[in-house]
Amino acid sequence: MTQIKSLPAAGVGVLTAGGDAPGMNAAVRAVVRTALGLGLRAHGVQRAFEGLAQGEIREIGARDVGGILQRGGTVLQTARYPEFAKPEVQRAALEQLRGRGIGALVAIGGDGTMRGALALHRLGLPVVGVPASIDNDVYGTDMAIGVDTALNTILEAIDKLRDTASSHRRAFIVETMGRHCGHLALMSGITSGAEMTLIPEQEVSAEEVAEAVRSAHERGKTHAIIVVAEGAKLRAAALKERLDAMRLGFGFRVTILGHVQRGGRPSAWDRLLAARLGVAAVERLARGESGVMVGLQARDVVGVPLEEAGTRQRPVDLEYYRMARMLAR
Ligand code: F6P
Repeated sequence: MTQIKSLPAAGVGVLTAGGDAPGMNAAVRAVVRTALGLGLRAHGVQRAFEGLAQGEIREIGARDVGGILQRGGTVLQTARYPEFAKPEVQRAALEQLRGRGIGALVAIGGDGTMRGALALHRLGLPVVGVPASIDNDVYGTDMAIGVDTALNTILEAIDKLRDTASSHRRAFIVETMGRHCGHLALMSGITSGAEMTLIPEQEVSAEEVAEAVRSAHERGKTHAIIVVAEGAKLRAAALKERLDAMRLGFGFRVTILGHVQRGGRPSAWDRLLAARLGVAAVERLARGESGVMVGLQARDVVGVPLEEAGTRQRPVDLEYYRMARMLAR
């Protein structure tokens, strides 16, 4: 964590990067209004690090972020931009900021965003990161912005699937997002009462899933729900093929929830988290901090070195996995 002398009055830039997450807009609003409240100018960078390198930057005021708190997606837009790993692209981005007299940056996004933020910090720009990703794989924070809303979206879908599953005596295999992390699947498995949850962190065979489904059928259940993380070794489609062949009493259907999990109005929880982290990010920059991500640990907002947030993955707590198995009876 580097201490810098003072935040240039010229202002603070803000961008959103990686996959969008509900609550990003609330975080942008918090960053802009905190900067303005501290007497700093605020600048929005469109389309993440790509827009930064290409100079898609405009000054924004308090009214520009009015009416966005409750909206999903990101008004600043986002982009996947692996080219930002190149030093010449990073330097071009820095030039764009310096050319406009922007002295600091808040980068809102997932672990890839923290790596981009770290690169700019290493080039001497004061930068603070804010974790926002539905995957909840960002190291150093209990929750990232967007996770709670995504989880509620998944639950709403599974509750509906259970209705049709019961009517037809079917089992649904529901694939959630999460990339290499099983958090979303595991939490939705527990909170939806799934018979089985498959995550990348814990290998399960098709035979074990079959046993859980067979047993649910024998105990008189009229449906079964199997939640599969997209990063699990056994993917939803392959699992269905294996289970179909075993004649377990239920017919199987696959539902891939996909990008619907990324959209929608942010929950109260995500809005509050976005407000807390957005305010903390700018206040830390104003106090002269750089090279950190603000994260939630227990009830507190803490600073986590970008070196850690950008290079490590938040581990799934396997105690939850044990709980999920215990409760699926
Ligand atoms: O990181 C968020 C996420 O939605 C992952 O869960 C998923 O694997 C990935 O992004 C999908 O990326 P894209 O929207 O670029 O297809």
